Amino acid sequence: MLALDTQKEIAQLLSRYPIKRNALLPILHVVQKGNEGYLTPELLEEVAGICEVSQTHVEGVISFYTMYKLEKPGKFHLQVCTCVPCCLVGGEELLEHVEQQLDTHAGHTADDGVFSVEEVECLGACSYAPAVIINEDYHEQMNPEKLDRLMDELRTQGQAHA
Ligand code: FES
Repeated sequence: MLALDTQKEIAQLLSRYPIKRNALLPILHVVQKGNEGYLTPELLEEVAGICEVSQTHVEGVISFYTMYKLEKPGKFHLQVCTCVPCCLVGGEELLEHVEQQLDTHAGHTADDGVFSVEEVECLGACSYAPAVIINEDYHEQMNPEKLDRLMDELRTQGQAHA
C-alpha cells in the first residue's frame, strides 16, 4: 500500500499526464523514494495498475534504467564508473577494491546496510577519471586510498546519525 504522501504526489503527476502510461518513469521515481530507495514486486504491481500497463512492462522498464533499485540501498550508495576512460586510470581496480572492502558485489548492499555499490557507465566526469558518485556527490580522480578515507568518514557519519 502506498503511503499517503506518495499517493498525493502520484495524483499530481497524473494530472499532468493525460495518458497514464507516460507517467510511468516519474511515478516509479516517487514510489521508490517513498520506500527507502527501492521497489518491491508488490509496488511494481501497484504502479502497473496505476499506469494501466502490465507488470511485465514495468519490469522491463526498471531493468533498463539503473536508477531503479530492487534491493534496499545502503545509507551511502556508491556508483563506480568502469567505462573506458575511467578504466584506463584504475576504474575497474577501484570497483574491485570497493567490492573487497565491503565483501559484496556490484549491484548489492553490504551486510551492515551502510554502503551499497553499483558499476555504472560514464558519469560525465571523464576528464577527472576515475569518477565515483556517492549519493548525489561526485568524487573525482579517486584511488583506493582516497576512497578508503572517504568511506571511513562516511561510516563514522552514518553511525553518528543511526
Ligand atoms: S568514463 Fe568514467 S566518467 Fe566518463
